[in-house]
Amino acid sequence: MNPLLYLTNQRIKEFVFQSLQSSYTRRGIATEVVEGIVDVLATCRENPETAVHRVYEQVIDMRPLGCFGEKYNSYKRWERPQFLYALMKEYLIGTTVVDVGCGDNSFCKYLVTNVNQNLLCIGTDVLCYPDCYHGSHVDFRLQEPPLQIPVNTHEANCVMFANVLHHIKHEDLNSIVREVIRITSPERNVIVIIEDTWDDKSKPVWEGKDLNTLLFRLTPEERCRAMAIIDWIGTDLATGHLAMSKPFAFKSMETWEQFFLKHGFQIIGSRYLGFPPQKLHLNPQGLLVLRKKP
Ligand SMILES: C[S@@+](CC[C@H](N)C(=O)[O-])C[C@H]1O[C@@H](n2cnc3c(N)ncnc32)[C@H](O)[C@@H]1O
Repeated sequence: MNPLLYLTNQRIKEFVFQSLQSSYTRRGIATEVVEGIVDVLATCRENPETAVHRVYEQVIDMRPLGCFGEKYNSYKRWERPQFLYALMKEYLIGTTVVDVGCGDNSFCKYLVTNVNQNLLCIGTDVLCYPDCYHGSHVDFRLQEPPLQIPVNTHEANCVMFANVLHHIKHEDLNSIVREVIRITSPERNVIVIIEDTWDDKSKPVWEGKDLNTLLFRLTPEERCRAMAIIDWIGTDLATGHLAMSKPFAFKSMETWEQFFLKHGFQIIGSRYLGFPPQKLHLNPQGLLVLRKKP
């Protein structure tokens, strides 16, 4: 699916522009750069690969090794794990944390280095990133086959999914949920989900200036399309990880809650975060905390 095609819709384009501008200018990147990115993406919308190369050549090289690199690396290795920890710290229990879809494993490294060196943190992902971290008390396990989490039965106390669920096709979610039930300890368990989502009933923790208003002016279909473009910018354009699976399977908070209740989980926490300023690629965020029923 090529989300850039949706940039012909002016309301979607406006949301994408405002979302990028809000986080990039906060990090010292000029508005002209944001205008340049959005213009190139809209002009080359038929061919995302050409769009990626043209942004790198004509506007800004956003890859971790490009001129955007220092900002991006500091975000990925430090600001992002710090933000994820702030969201989940009150739910961190037990000794074994599993971060499913861990990316380069920065979050596990952060936990063991900065929070508790006695934890065992296992990051799993269907991709192995070239800069993926593993070390003492920090394990990385390739998820192969992709729907089997490479962790022993009942081994995990705390399972994280940070911006991962929308990368999993709807038809594969049941298998992943079965795996979560299998790997979590029967006595002490918590599942923390941070996800690109929306909730039109609750007030967000972060309004994100006018982003929340802009978001809710879009129809549900336009909303998912706008979020797909931001997601694509945060993955393909900013990291060059063109291989990452992107079904863009976004769901509302309410749909996720019903999904997990149906699968026999208890919901022990649910917060619509809105647009946290700590995020680099700003889609609306939600936090859902679950417990496996005894
Ligand atoms: C947006 S990244 C988030 C990375 C990391 N959790 C973070 O917060 O920085 C989504 C990750 O989910 C991974 N992923 C996609 N499908 C997956 C699956 N079925 N099981 C585990 N990981 C998956 C992708 O490879 C990618 O690394």
